[in-house]
Amino acid sequence: MSVENAANAAYLIAALLFILSLAGLSKHETAPRGLTFGIAGMTLALVATIALALSGEPATVGIVMLVVAMLIGAGVGLARARSVQMTEMPELIALLHSFVGLAAVLVGWNGYLAPELHEELEGALLGIHYAEVFIGVFIGAVTFTGSIVAYLKLSAKMKSAPLVLPGKNLINAGIIVAFVVLTVWFVISPNLWMLIVVTVLALALGWHLVASIGGGDMPVVVSMLNSYSGFAAAATGFLLGNDLLIVTGALVGSSGAYLSYIMCKAMNRSFISVIMGGFGIEASSGEGKDHGEHTEIDVAGAAEMLAGANSVIIAPGYGMAVAQAQYPVADLTRTLRDRGVDVRFAVHPVAGRLPGHMNVLLAEAKVPYDIVLELDEINDDFADTDVVLVIGANDTVNPDAAEDPGSPIAGMPVLHVWEASNVIVFKRSMAAGYAGVQNPLFFRDNSDMLFGDAKDKVSEILSAVREQQGANA
Ligand code: TAP
Repeated sequence: MSVENAANAAYLIAALLFILSLAGLSKHETAPRGLTFGIAGMTLALVATIALALSGEPATVGIVMLVVAMLIGAGVGLARARSVQMTEMPELIALLHSFVGLAAVLVGWNGYLAPELHEELEGALLGIHYAEVFIGVFIGAVTFTGSIVAYLKLSAKMKSAPLVLPGKNLINAGIIVAFVVLTVWFVISPNLWMLIVVTVLALALGWHLVASIGGGDMPVVVSMLNSYSGFAAAATGFLLGNDLLIVTGALVGSSGAYLSYIMCKAMNRSFISVIMGGFGIEASSGEGKDHGEHTEIDVAGAAEMLAGANSVIIAPGYGMAVAQAQYPVADLTRTLRDRGVDVRFAVHPVAGRLPGHMNVLLAEAKVPYDIVLELDEINDDFADTDVVLVIGANDTVNPDAAEDPGSPIAGMPVLHVWEASNVIVFKRSMAAGYAGVQNPLFFRDNSDMLFGDAKDKVSEILSAVREQQGANA
């Protein structure tokens, strides 16, 4: 068997391993297996690609460059993976997407400039080649700048408020129409200027699209860019004639698009308005409203309230991740359950800063899966619950989303924690959450604020609850 055939067979197996990986990652229980399949697929793909590169008549410079690039890439990747905090994952992912976009642009440009890639093609095949170049460069450039803006916004290096240019949707639509016209023109009579123009237009579109989206809608953007980066990789695959890249790109592109769709549903946004960029900014932020006074509770009061509770729901959010409070939260859960209290978790689909953020933290702290429920599964149960502990969540428990049509987050499904008999909100101040809107929950009669770092406060409550237990024993 030639090396080429062996590599193609390896690519096919790698593609199957990636599909198995995705299937495995869909459930907590099978996620480790899914990761193993993914790592095996990626290793196989890398080995096959290197073997293929070495099998031809490789220029020594090419091999040296390949090895040096892999060593640098692996070194930087390993260092970042070790040092990145869970809460910084979305920005890291956004930055990584920008590399995929840049790679697609470079491969596209190479596809036009390197004669050996198209000199043997003619007729329709040559036309298809030029269309692939143009489309690949366009998607890649949109992904590149869009991901950089998402990275800057998520890491707070750029204001997260949406950019509102006059006629912003017209600008986006105009660039897309120009792209379609230019693609046809480029296929008929390719020239360098058109490639330069489409690259500049796409870079501007990517920047503008993501800059126009603000606040609470960033998670959808990250998963949308994930999808774009997949399609950019698939376009690169067509150009390089690499089946594995086509299949993998399509998998990433379609799963990213599907995830964006699920998130849009969870935030009550329309997919089209996300793609066109910018929404929800006309509404008032609710800052000017007088919500009245908030009340506070201390650790002893919270422990006492828990002592009298039969049912408790914990609604975790971004603050639990920042404080790394999941371990004392898991210990408190075990202690209360041992006492016969019904404790469950209510996980909002966009709680935290990345999909599944809360599920990962709770699984890490060994909270049993069967008491971790999704929004739809638990939202009707708050009314029959004695105590809700809101631990570092804010936007995802904001009643204005359900009750005030003028709120910037109006229509986003939220956890109806305020329907419980008592709510304790763990946070450090009265500051707003990610979307920058005030939360009237804090001022409700049945809500009390417990100020301080969530990990410290939960640990103190845990000690107080154990002391009560000791005293009663
Ligand atoms: P947020 O609305 O972000 O609020 C988190 C709260 O945690 C803040 O109000 C903060 O208040 C508190 N906090 C921070 N550090 C804390 C600490 N050490 N101890 C105690 N509290 C602490 O949280 P959420 O309800 O999880 O909502 C998530 C938001 O992020 C949504 O708007 C969502 O759209 C957006 N988002 C989600 C994702 C995904 S995919 N999940 C990705 C990007 C953005 P203090 O400062 O007063 O302590």
